[in-house]
Amino acid sequence: MIEPALLAKVIAHRGASGTAPENTLVAISKAHEAGATCVELDASISSDNIPFVHHDDSLERCTNGQGYLCAHTAEQLDAISADSGMREFAGEPLPRLSAAIALLSDLQMGLNLEIKPTPGLEEPTAHAVCNVVRDSWPSDLPLVLSSFSRESLAVARDELPGAARALIVCAVPSDWRHQTQLLQCRNLHMAAPLLNAEQATNILDAGLGLYCFTVNNVSEAKTLFAMGVHGVFSDYPEKMLNALS
Ligand code: G3P
Ligand code: MG
Repeated sequence: MIEPALLAKVIAHRGASGTAPENTLVAISKAHEAGATCVELDASISSDNIPFVHHDDSLERCTNGQGYLCAHTAEQLDAISADSGMREFAGEPLPRLSAAIALLSDLQMGLNLEIKPTPGLEEPTAHAVCNVVRDSWPSDLPLVLSSFSRESLAVARDELPGAARALIVCAVPSDWRHQTQLLQCRNLHMAAPLLNAEQATNILDAGLGLYCFTVNNVSEAKTLFAMGVHGVFSDYPEKMLNALS
């Protein structure tokens, strides 16, 4: 029998990314200050297989670096600022996953860690992420490993069978039952605009947790909760938590 892996009704998407540079330590702290109990972060790997918290394959949008993240060593990435051009956060580091986990542990927050491999690095990215999680995630805090990549999820299933997993999709694929069973996922995470009420009912009846991204509009969140979704990923956790309380 599948049990949903419950996180929170409002998950701070890439941290409090609407008000702080996404996927940074300050975005985690801001999410905590906003009252969030859980964050979603993206993880990919350096050329020497160290996981960093970052969304894009390349560094330009969110950092002062250039080129592919996976083409740089961890030491090179440690020297990069990930302030997303927000002057008040100048010098904010590009965090290693280990640093993000240490902060979440201090703050006693839950984590949805999205394994975000650069194409071609699906397996090594998942291996490296699993190693850090195994070594440092506090077992008493909620954790879900998720990915769009089925190869990455298969590695996580085999290496960390006790950690909850979620398959991420945009639209619900026709083979969602088969894929979630094969990958032993407890949740389905999907794009909010592509969910309808009938799909929500079927997914929930199958025993899966159902979480939707990215929801920054309160009425959209209320519609999703009326369909039974367990939670939403929002860039503005403070606004969403205030409106839903
Ligand atoms: O994990 C949910 C969501 O973050 C997936 O999309 O592109 O924002 O990582 P993206
Ligand atoms: Mg993500």
